[in-house]
Amino acid sequence: MNELRAIGSRIDLTSCDKLDYYNLVSDLLDNELVMKMKEFTHHGSTTCFQHCLNVSYYNYRICRLFSWNTRAAARAGLLHDLFLYDWHTYKPAKGERLHGFTHAKCALNNVMENFEITELEKDIIVKHMFPLNIALPRYRETVVIILVDKYCGLIEVAANAAAVMTYAAASMIRTIRSKWLEVFSAE
Ligand SMILES: [Fe+2]
Ligand SMILES: [Fe+2]
Repeated sequence: MNELRAIGSRIDLTSCDKLDYYNLVSDLLDNELVMKMKEFTHHGSTTCFQHCLNVSYYNYRICRLFSWNTRAAARAGLLHDLFLYDWHTYKPAKGERLHGFTHAKCALNNVMENFEITELEKDIIVKHMFPLNIALPRYRETVVIILVDKYCGLIEVAANAAAVMTYAAASMIRTIRSKWLEVFSAE
């Protein structure tokens, strides 16, 4: 297994013996469907898999802090966006609502078809888009994912914007430098 890191964290989740995070999700990380999420970009240049890993890890850390259900937090976090299509190009069928409103249910259906999950994990997955989907969370772990999912989405978009701006600034500096060299070498 290659290194796994959540955004903003230096911890390699596959080799950290201080955390039981990896043990809680290792079977999911071997699963073909979960790996398929690597094929789809989600926020900015972050893949759907990396986003789910980010959410899963920070869900886990927060629930661990409060001694809540870390297993459900980590596992449902990793599966919460298992909708398996590129939402940027997705066109809803006539009468169907936009991706933002429907993908939590779609992910839950995929998860229920392929994995054994608990009532708590179902609640975490299907309600993670609150308040876009108006269904009140039943558990405190669901409240955690509602917040963590939005936080991760924001930092993923911001990290991408920062990378784009750095690239643009570097190209501008290179262009200015080569122009200057042209001018000075012509003298
Ligand atoms: Fe989502
Ligand atoms: Fe998400």
